[in-house]
Formats: sequence, structure tokens, C-alpha cells
Amino acid sequence: MRITLTVNEVKRELEIEPGETLLELLRREGYKGVKKGCGSGDCGACAVLLDGRAVNSCLVLAAKVDGRKVITVEGLENDEGLHPVQQAFLEEGAIQCGYCTPGMVIAAVDLLTHNPDPGEDEIKEGISGNLCRCTGYVKQIEAIKTAARRMGEGADD
Ligand code: FES
Ligand code: FES
Repeated sequence: MRITLTVNEVKRELEIEPGETLLELLRREGYKGVKKGCGSGDCGACAVLLDGRAVNSCLVLAAKVDGRKVITVEGLENDEGLHPVQQAFLEEGAIQCGYCTPGMVIAAVDLLTHNPDPGEDEIKEGISGNLCRCTGYVKQIEAIKTAARRMGEGADD
């Protein structure tokens, strides 16, 4: 079966396998920033934005995304550089092994897009589906606060 999928603003015609997940399709097409953790919806490593909302791509059948838009972590950067969330994760040292980072960043972007000034509990809730084995979440929460502040300052310009 063929589907049309816009990935990181590029419209693609893609051949998919029966039963293939969006995670498998994206990785097969070279979007290796989308990580496979549990494969069962429990860790958030595979999160992407699907029509602007974070979803676990391991739970989405590729056949169901025909005509839709996906942004992976690779697509967050633009000509001006890293997305403020990516930048803040780097600066705050919110990355250790980095395996959870793409999904965590995607969840944070979804959160800040829909709630530009979240409180700490809202940040915790926003990343509650994303497991990290390394960091204890403190630096990631700080990074999301930093990104929120900067994005807010940018919005005021
Ligand atoms: S790999 Fe998709 S939620 Fe863990
Ligand atoms: S930085 Fe290693 S799992 Fe999160």
C-alpha cells in the first residue's frame, strides 16, 4: 500500500508494509532520531508530533497516517538553529545517554505549544509518558522551564 505523508515539511509518497507502525516506517526511511524503546506505548522514546500533537509512533499504524503531517526531532531545527527546547536541553545538561531525549523534546514542544507558561506540575504531567533511566528528570524540567521563558520572550518581541 502507498501512503502520502508529510514528514518535517516534506511531502513523501511511501510504500508501507502490512501492519507496519509509524515508528518502523520512519526509522526505515532514515529518521533515526525516532527511537524504539519498549515498542508498547510505555516509554515515549518513539514520540513524534502527528498533526501537532505528540503520539507514541510505536502505537500508530502507518496505514492510519495517510495524508497527515509528522514532525520528528530532526524537523524541529530550522535555519536559525536548534529549537529552543533542544537548545535548553543541551545547555541545562538534561541529556545523559540521550536515548529518551528525542521523545522528551517532542513531548515538551507539544506542551509548550499548547501551554506556553506551564507550572512545574504541568511540566511533570507533560513528560509523564516519557521514561528516562539516567537523569532523574530534574534537569529536563529545568530545561523545559528555560525554553518556556525564552519562547515567551521571543513571543513578546
Ligand atoms: S517505543 Fe513507543 S512508547 Fe516505547
Ligand atoms: S538520558 Fe538516558 S534514558 Fe534519558
